[in-house]
Amino acid sequence: MPNRPDYQLLCDQVRSLAEASSNWLPALANASALIMETLDELNWAGFYLTDLSGHDPALVLGPFQGKVACVLIPFGRGVCGAAAREDQTQLVPNVHEFPGHIACDSASNSEIVIPLHANGNVVGVLDIDSPLFDRFSASDQQGLEALVHTIESCADLSQLPLSR
Ligand code: SME
Repeated sequence: MPNRPDYQLLCDQVRSLAEASSNWLPALANASALIMETLDELNWAGFYLTDLSGHDPALVLGPFQGKVACVLIPFGRGVCGAAAREDQTQLVPNVHEFPGHIACDSASNSEIVIPLHANGNVVGVLDIDSPLFDRFSASDQQGLEALVHTIESCADLSQLPLSR
C-alpha cells in the first residue's frame, strides 16, 4: 500500500509557493509538481481549467506532470467532466468501469478528480491518476480536498474561468 503523505505539510508547501506570485499559473504548476513528488504510485497529476469560450462549457488542459494528455474535455464527459458538471469529487477505484472514462495514459487504473472553485463557480478540476487499482482512500480524498481548499484560498483564481 502507498504511504499516506503528510497532507498538512503539502498544504503548507503549496501555500508558501502560491504566495510567491499573485498569478494562478505558477501556483497550479508548482502544486502539480509537489503532488507528483509527494504521493506514491502516481502516473499523472494536474489541472484542467474551465473554458467558457466555446458553445458549451469544457475543461482545457492546464499545468500538469505526466504524459501528454487530451486537451479539451466537455463538461459531463469522463471522470473530469463528471466532477466539473456535478461539482463533486469523483473517487474511481477502477477507471475501466467508469462510463465514458477518457484513457489519456493506458497505465492509469484508478483516479481521483476534485473540483476547484472561485467565486462559487467550478473553474477547473484537480485530476490525479495511478497505475494501481484502488489507489486513493477516503483519507486521501479528505487530504486532497483540503489541498484544493488551500489552493482556492491562496492562489489568485479570479481570472478563471477562461473565456474569450
Ligand atoms: N481520465 C480522465 C481524462 C484526463 S487524463 O486522465 C489526464 C477522464 O476520464 O476525465
